[in-house]
Order: sequence, then C-alpha cells, then structure tokens
Amino acid sequence: MNAPRFVYLDHSATTPTDPRVVEAMLPYFSEVYGNPSSSHGFGRKASSAVEAARGTVAKILNCSRKEVIFTSCGTESDNLALRGVITAAGRPVHLLTAHSEHHAISHTAAQLEHVGIRVRVSWLPVTAEGMVTVEALERALSTTQTEELALVSVMVANNEVGTIQPIQALAEAAHRQGAIFHTDAVQAAGQLPLDVKSLGVDMLSISAHKFYGPKGVGLLYVREGILLEPSQTGGSQESARRAGTHNVPLIVGMAKALELAYQELETRVSHYRRMRDRIIDGVLSVVPDARLSGAGKDQRLPCHASFVIRNIDANMLLMHLDMAGIAASSGSACNTGNPKPSEVLLAMGYPPELALGSLRLSVGKGTTDEDVDQLLKALPEAIERIRAVHEAQSMG
Ligand SMILES: Cc1ncc(COP(=O)(O)O)c(C=O)c1O
Repeated sequence: MNAPRFVYLDHSATTPTDPRVVEAMLPYFSEVYGNPSSSHGFGRKASSAVEAARGTVAKILNCSRKEVIFTSCGTESDNLALRGVITAAGRPVHLLTAHSEHHAISHTAAQLEHVGIRVRVSWLPVTAEGMVTVEALERALSTTQTEELALVSVMVANNEVGTIQPIQALAEAAHRQGAIFHTDAVQAAGQLPLDVKSLGVDMLSISAHKFYGPKGVGLLYVREGILLEPSQTGGSQESARRAGTHNVPLIVGMAKALELAYQELETRVSHYRRMRDRIIDGVLSVVPDARLSGAGKDQRLPCHASFVIRNIDANMLLMHLDMAGIAASSGSACNTGNPKPSEVLLAMGYPPELALGSLRLSVGKGTTDEDVDQLLKALPEAIERIRAVHEAQSMG
C-alpha cells in the first residue's frame, strides 16, 4: 500500500508559523537578546521591539498601546480577564457566560463558582446553532443584584462549531445594564475584523498560533478605565498587570503574524470560504447521515466546517482518517479511553449519542482542491469501515 499523502485540516487547533514570521522573530533569540526591563542598551533594543509590536497590534485592534497586555497564550488572556476583574471588583460579581465557551472560560467560571470567592455564575442558554441571544443575556442580566458587578464573557466565534456571535448587540445589551463585556476572539483573529471600538467590547483575548504566529504568546486588550488586578504577580511588566520577563521573539512574531493576517485578509478569507464550502457541500452529499453543526455558511467562521454524524464514534473516525493521511478533529473532549460528549453540542441541545459523533474540518492558507478531494474520498470509506466493524461485532 502506498503511504498516504498528508492533509492538514485542523487549522482551528493550530496553524504552521508563517516563514515571514519566523524570519522576523529570529534576530530576537540570539542577536537582540537583552531583557526589555533592563535600562542598558541591550535592554532598550529589546524594549523597542516589544513597543513596536505593541504599536502594530494596537493599530489593528484600534486601541491605544497601553490597553494591550501581552500574555503567554489565549488561555492566560481569558483567565486574566475573568480573574483580574473579579479580584479588582471589591464586591460580589455576577459572571455571565455559557457552557459553549472554550474551557479557558467555562472551566475558569466553574472553578470560580466553587472556590468560595463571591462569584455567582449565570450559565447563558444557547440556541441550536450555538448562539447567545440578546434576549437571553438581558434576562440573565436582570437578575444582577444591586451590590453585584456584572461581568459577561461571550466568544466572537466558537471553536467547535464555528458559529459567529452577535457581539456588538450583546456588548450593547451588557453596557445598558452597566456590565463589563469580555470576548474571546481567539478563533476569530485573522478571519474577522478585530476593531474593539466597533465591536464595543471592554476586553478581548487573542492567541498568535491561530493566525500563523508562534505558539505560546497571546494578548488581552483591556479598555482604559477597566480595573484589573494581575493574576500573575511579581515584576511590574505590562504596567504591573502581568508580571514576567517579556518573551521578545514571540511578541515580535505575534505582531508580524497579525499584521500579515490583516494585510492579506481578503485573499485568505475568500480562499478559506471556497475550500470550506466545498467541504460542507461535499461532506453533506457523500455522507448522507452527516449534518452541519453550528450556524449556516453566512454566520460561521470562514475556515470552519463541523458536522455530527449519526452512529459514529468520533475518536474511531479520527483514527481512520489519520490512517488515510487526514488530520481532523472532533468536538469531543477525549481522555484516553474515556470519550465524553462535547459540552458545546450538549449546550446546543444535541443528545449525548449524537454529540459523540462530531467532526471538525478547518482549512487554511495552504489547503488545496486536491486536499478536499482526498478528504471526500477517505471520509465515506472510513465511515463504511467503522460501520462494517460494528455490524460484525453486533452479529458475533
Ligand atoms: C476559542 C478559544 N479560546 C482560547 C483558546 C486557548 O488558546 P491557547 O491555545 O493560546 O491557550 C483556544 C484554543 O484552542 C480557543 O479556540
């Protein structure tokens, strides 16, 4: 048997670092290696690079430079947003979020709810497409007590089902009730506009490795006037809001990746859409038991296709696809040998047995028609093989 050609359809998990980004980062490992907090020339050079990067990202986010906090990843940005506001509040907090959020938000909220800090969590319902509605948010906000500070966290676009939320309307609704609004834009960055003023948000998280930047670096935008205590204490980096020596090469890389992503936005997005639509139409036609999960084409991330497939175990399917050279992912969080249905799909009202059969295919800059052809051939074959094994097992 010939070795399969490898096809990467998991860009929502991570993207390769763009060679232009690698090139921009290289001098900052061993040529410009000073600590940006040092006052000597080596330090000043490194500090200039960090500040130039801050200027680049602030321009894309349409905010001021001092509203940008560099972090180690999207997860840290999300944690800092929630924990930072809650610690600074000095009064009880009513936290409003949804089970369909990334675990960086939902597990943080669940932990805060149980550790005895004065946090009350309202879990917002989502529609069958994974959408938080203004009405649902308003209803939950109306239960905020006078002594409570309300903090809302709803993501721009969902990582498992690709649904884009009505962020502007949700942020407006939150502000009408005096709440602070955070959004996790980790999946949206590099595909949707990130202008914090038109989104109307108070805080926004992103992570470089989702838009062809390096892994291990992210940022949190925090609007001036929002009180935020650091979660990680120590030095006074990032205006005493995030301690720790700056990771200069990665910060430079993130700014370069973001700059390229928005310079090339139109070309990238129209390519993603064409590849994604071929996948959506193709999968629905070659796998009659598949159903698109999340929103329709107009209201979902350009790179993102996701499905639930009846009577199919996602882990088994991913293994078969992998053997056919195709890297995909599922919506289910799997501990080895202990598959659990996706919390996102459960929140959207899917029954557990269907929520176990989810498949996510996410395209990127390098995805080709040949890749999609290979997927559309391999997928029905993999499903047929899995079903044949099941049938043999149930008969035997
Ligand atoms: C929506 C969302 N938020 C947060 C994260 C976490 O980002 P990081 O991998 O940088 O910690 C991810 C990563 O998959 C994500 O998809």
